[in-house]
Amino acid sequence: MTETSGITLRSGSAADAEVIRLLGDIGFGIATDRAEAERTHSVFAPENGIVAHEGDRIVGYAATYTQTLTVPGGHPVEVSSIANVVVAPTHRRRGILRAMYTEQHRRTEELGLPLTIFTASQGGIYGRFGYGPSITEQHIGFDRRFAQFHSGTPDPGGVELTATTAARGVVPAIYDRWRRVQPGAQLRPEPAWDAVFADLPRYRGGGTELFAFTHPDGYALYRYHRRGSGSAIEVVELRAVTPDAHAALWRALSALELFDRVEAVIAPDDPLPHLFTDPRLVRTTGLRDALWTRLMDVPAALTARSYQADLDIVVAVDDPFRGAGGTFALRVRDGHAECAPTTRAADVELGIDVLGSVYLGAHRIRRMAAAHHIRAKGPAVLRALDLAFQSDRDPVLGWAF
Ligand SMILES: CC(C)(COP(=O)(O)OP(=O)(O)OC[C@H]1O[C@@H](n2cnc3c(N)ncnc32)[C@H](O)[C@@H]1OP(=O)(O)O)[C@@H](O)C(=O)NCCC(=O)NCCS
Repeated sequence: MTETSGITLRSGSAADAEVIRLLGDIGFGIATDRAEAERTHSVFAPENGIVAHEGDRIVGYAATYTQTLTVPGGHPVEVSSIANVVVAPTHRRRGILRAMYTEQHRRTEELGLPLTIFTASQGGIYGRFGYGPSITEQHIGFDRRFAQFHSGTPDPGGVELTATTAARGVVPAIYDRWRRVQPGAQLRPEPAWDAVFADLPRYRGGGTELFAFTHPDGYALYRYHRRGSGSAIEVVELRAVTPDAHAALWRALSALELFDRVEAVIAPDDPLPHLFTDPRLVRTTGLRDALWTRLMDVPAALTARSYQADLDIVVAVDDPFRGAGGTFALRVRDGHAECAPTTRAADVELGIDVLGSVYLGAHRIRRMAAAHHIRAKGPAVLRALDLAFQSDRDPVLGWAF
């Protein structure tokens, strides 16, 4: 238990579920039903969450859950995650969020987990707690009527028109193969799959119910939208384990010829635009951060991922919120890192939030340095760090939580 200006923090309990649901509905402006709340609570159990009280009133909540996250190199790492963070509108800006994060970090440290992740509703809050945006998602759209695949794009076939209820039986296993090699993707628990296939009308944005294409190595879940005189296919989720599955699924989606537009969210390095004769056809309509990451234990986190180049460097990490920074010698050989505290002088200085931003490989070191977030001894140090921290593929968030 923690005390902060008349506010008490404690673990939640099953008995708090209804109040937590109401607080969340008010905070996020949604109306969840009991079944939906139960699904959420079966993953993010109130018992594992942090409840903030004033007297006998619950005025804040933060859900937590330990997930398995794939980091660059395809390594699975157990990480802490936070979700459904809300403070009653009657109790904002009194430090309740700050207190809940402090408590969450204490618990994560006790569990010995090297990272904490979450998806943020606002971008200006979490840097102060040591988090940086660590996955970028690219919203795209293209006019399907002009989509021509270039001559080298394979046409391997293998796509089945699968009833959505039947897709529920095959899609999770394909996803699981995909997430094991995809940085940023997490193991997805059954209730999270139930939430996808519950396909609640209020999350359809005016579109039809979900349709599914399946392939032995991939799948696409999508819906149709009819908007006035226009029409569109919204790709809700496309996962491909192989380049052939990727091409086959995009070919099937591009053949839905009574619909003009195709809209999707892809990784910035997705080859989709270059499957076409005219890559400009695919327009970026938005870029958004999909995940925020904080290093809880710098050596444990830095040795958990792989690197793209050898490195011998001393890094000074500033962590004003938790004091878990310090000066570390980072040595990389053949992709594997060793990292330990050192008294040697630093070659590079950066904040722990910036380290969180570059950790999964979505953001380049040289870009962060150009934005005055990283100070290096010289350009050679920066170049070495920039090369090493890249990932073999851009990170993709497996499922939003
Ligand atoms: C976001 C929210 C949880 C903040 O809770 P809170 O108890 O008012 O936050 P705190 O008082 O602990 O503020 C902590 C720090 O964040 C800052 N902060 C809080 N909300 C902020 C905002 N919307 N924009 C910028 N800074 C913000 C505070 O100024 C404070 O800064 P400081 O400690 O450096 O002085 C609350 O406003 C809320 O429930 N919003 C609606 C739901 C939501 O967005 N949840 C977050 C999901 S990721």
